Amino acid sequence: MTKIRKAVFPVGGLGTRFLPATKAMPKEMLPVVDKPLIQYAVEEAQAAGIEHFIFVTGHNKTAIEDHFDANPALEKLLAKENKFDLLKFLQDSTFDSGKISYTRQSEPKGLGHAVWCARDLIGDEPFAVLLPDDIFHCKTPCLKQLVEAYNQVGGNIVAINDVPREQTNRYGILSVESDDGVLVKANGMVEKPAPEKAPSTCAISGRYILSPEVLDELNHQKAGIKGEIQLTDAMAATLDRVSFHGVRFEGTRFDCGNKIGFLMANIEYALDRPDLSEEFRQALKNLKL
Ligand code: UTP
Repeated sequence: MTKIRKAVFPVGGLGTRFLPATKAMPKEMLPVVDKPLIQYAVEEAQAAGIEHFIFVTGHNKTAIEDHFDANPALEKLLAKENKFDLLKFLQDSTFDSGKISYTRQSEPKGLGHAVWCARDLIGDEPFAVLLPDDIFHCKTPCLKQLVEAYNQVGGNIVAINDVPREQTNRYGILSVESDDGVLVKANGMVEKPAPEKAPSTCAISGRYILSPEVLDELNHQKAGIKGEIQLTDAMAATLDRVSFHGVRFEGTRFDCGNKIGFLMANIEYALDRPDLSEEFRQALKNLKL
């Protein structure tokens, strides 16, 4: 199986659900506890063996580029003040030169279009896609679980979770051919179907391993539901020649693109932090909900 070396991070969206916070700041830089959403996704990709990181950016997104760049003045200051723990945080989020590429989506025309914008940087090899507004609290990083499944069955692989039927109109939904409890083989998929029309309740969440055939399809994809070029439509169009599996990942997904998911992620991650959990747990108890 070809090694998955490259990952695409689509960060060209407008983040309207988080206005006014996202008026001048990228949604992907919103912090969960003290780390921006995008960094959770990047660290997950690193843990899955990704070697090259491709960001599809747009207006107002330069803070992301600065975040992953070195900041020599700040590093010097922290070293001088012996703040080596903080210095390590800075260095952890600094990429080696040449490991990261940026391309731009001139207009947010949808997720499929954002991925297509990275086509020349991806080339002719399978690649990962990570949506940074989904973060996954997992023992084995979610993308690593997908890579393990990819090494067994190849083809296109997505992370899935079961959602209540009334929520199918928020997700790409699989039509299931077989299901062993973890690995689901799909023979169809549809983006945001109404609950009564959904072929199942297996919802695609924001981690993908995709074959180059999906990029070929994106070359001539037209706008789908909501007037956007949908990644799901391009994936569905490859079903006749590329196998498609969903992986029911082990762990919890937080949809940080919506406010409740974002708030819950902050609570869960803070409770999991040795330096914060005790004091934070007490503070939550004091709320007397
Ligand atoms: P979302 O649809 O959740 O993000 O896309 P959004 O459009 O920015 O948010 P709202 O709905 O207006 O609040 C998921 C990911 O895909 C990226 C977004 O930046 C986000 O990281 N995306 C989306 C693009 O890069 N380009 C697009 O055209 C659409």
